[in-house]
Amino acid sequence: MTEELLYAGKAKSVYGSDRADELIVVFRDDITAFDGGKKDVIAGKGEFNARVSARLYDLLEGRGIPTHFIALEGPARMRVRRLKMIPLEVIVRNIAAGSLVRRYPFVEGTPLDPPLIVIDYKDDSLHDPMLNDDIILALGLLTREELGEVKRFALRVNEVLQELFADLGIQLVDFKIEFGRDADGKIRLGDEISMDSMRLWDIRTGASLDKDVYRFEKGDVLATYGQVASRILGED
Ligand SMILES: Nc1ncnc2c1ncn2[C@@H]1O[C@H](COP(=O)(O)OP(=O)(O)OP(=O)(O)O)[C@@H](O)[C@H]1O
Ligand SMILES: [Mg+2]
Repeated sequence: MTEELLYAGKAKSVYGSDRADELIVVFRDDITAFDGGKKDVIAGKGEFNARVSARLYDLLEGRGIPTHFIALEGPARMRVRRLKMIPLEVIVRNIAAGSLVRRYPFVEGTPLDPPLIVIDYKDDSLHDPMLNDDIILALGLLTREELGEVKRFALRVNEVLQELFADLGIQLVDFKIEFGRDADGKIRLGDEISMDSMRLWDIRTGASLDKDVYRFEKGDVLATYGQVASRILGED
């Protein structure tokens, strides 16, 4: 019925569906970096991210983490539960890299044990400023109970994904997730978990297997995403 475009973000478009409580997320081939300062289209990238996200959500649901995922309905189309998104970027870091190394005196590649959880306010015009517990509560973004739940979910997602990637010869360096509330007010993992939102290093070679290949022009982005997808999906 109504496949109305509700929102077109930088990498995905969100459409209404035949059910009021469900949406269709289309993973586009657009890729951006540096707050949108670098932009390209890489044909086939959306499909790899959609298929990887679907597989990871399925795995996480099986391990007790509530997600928005319902089904893949085409190569890059995902049916999800409609959530009221919470404007937070929840980042879990196992190894120092990226902005952590740029902004703080960490040496790139240093293991972080226990892992760090960093929560940013998702607003490009403010450049996603980092929050702390007091600011999150003062802004009314989460209740204290929800904040605890979000952190527990984030660490659990980390455990499940770290285990999966270790078996595939990949180090899960860090990743970003987003949460939302469903119609019952329950917090669920939304958005995507893909090569655009994780930092992955090949354990054997140290090579980047994620969007850093695009950011820093380290190689063939599509081939890299395809290689990760086939390791995760178990295809050649
Ligand atoms: N289950 C869901 N229900 C409602 N909105 C969702 C759901 N999952 C993800 N979203 C939202 O859909 C949008 C997806 O678009 P996309 O990620 O491309 O854009 P963006 O977040 O605005 O930009 P950015 O590229 O910085 O992430 C995001 O705003 C995301 O928060
Ligand atoms: Mg996004």
